[in-house]
Amino acid sequence: MMAVSIPVVVNQQQQKKHTADKFSKAVGAYAEHANVQKRAATALLKKIANVESNHPMGEVCVDIGAGPGVNISQLKQHFAQVYAVDLSFEMLKLANSSTASLCADMDALPLLSNSVDVIFSNFAVQWSSNLAELLQELNRVLKQKGRVYLSCVVDGSLAEIATAFAKVDQQSHVNSFHSVAQLKKYSAKAGFIINSCDQVCYQDAYQSPMAALRSLKAIGATNQLGTQKRQGLLTRHALQQVCAAYPLTDKQAVVSYQVVLMELTKV
Ligand SMILES: C[S@@+](CC[C@H](N)C(=O)[O-])C[C@H]1O[C@@H](n2cnc3c(N)ncnc32)[C@H](O)[C@@H]1O
Repeated sequence: MMAVSIPVVVNQQQQKKHTADKFSKAVGAYAEHANVQKRAATALLKKIANVESNHPMGEVCVDIGAGPGVNISQLKQHFAQVYAVDLSFEMLKLANSSTASLCADMDALPLLSNSVDVIFSNFAVQWSSNLAELLQELNRVLKQKGRVYLSCVVDGSLAEIATAFAKVDQQSHVNSFHSVAQLKKYSAKAGFIINSCDQVCYQDAYQSPMAALRSLKAIGATNQLGTQKRQGLLTRHALQQVCAAYPLTDKQAVVSYQVVLMELTKV
């Protein structure tokens, strides 16, 4: 049996709890499976190295959706104070004990307005319950001329998974993601200048469709409850159908993520 989504009505608090639980459960396997996340983080950190050498050290940086704190030590090379924020307490527990951590919801940051110099966020903001409002929230906590370096999963992602599940039923089994155009619109409306915005397709390849499906679970990327879905069970027969319908490339089951890398400045 395997998890699949069936419709039910949920509120936002339930959705947040569901997200936190899912990432907390993924803690053990996360670092091993988060290859695509590492590549996006490397690209963002490269942007930081290019831009931040022009700014004086001694600044406050907040890593939003920091997960197990995999990017903190590199951020500390550029910023004097680095804080990790995540909804999942279990994820934060894995971060280095010398890191100041805040178990909080990115959509309602318990941070003072105009208090942060730089926001870093890798592979997390797509979990926001309202991306337009989140960008306003990031703008609020940043000081004037503060910078944001973020990567966000956008539409067109997990296309192979969608194709495979389409054989079984009419339900969407992958999260619905925002478009690049929406992300740009929300950023500008929140009061940011968009210094750069690059779309990249990151792919992971697995030996079998089953391994590809399991990888999503290992990084907590299974379907979001916010779209009025909840976990149910996929029968063995349906799972076989999904695996048989999974499109293979050179006999490998590829999982594709469309990711936008953005660098923003508060006007
Ligand atoms: C895919 S992981 C990325 C972790 C890390 N940034 C990295 O580069 O590997 C996404 C993280 O976002 C966190 N997250 C999801 N929704 C959140 C929310 N509303 N507020 C804060 N963190 C959230 C999850 O708990 C998870 O640790």
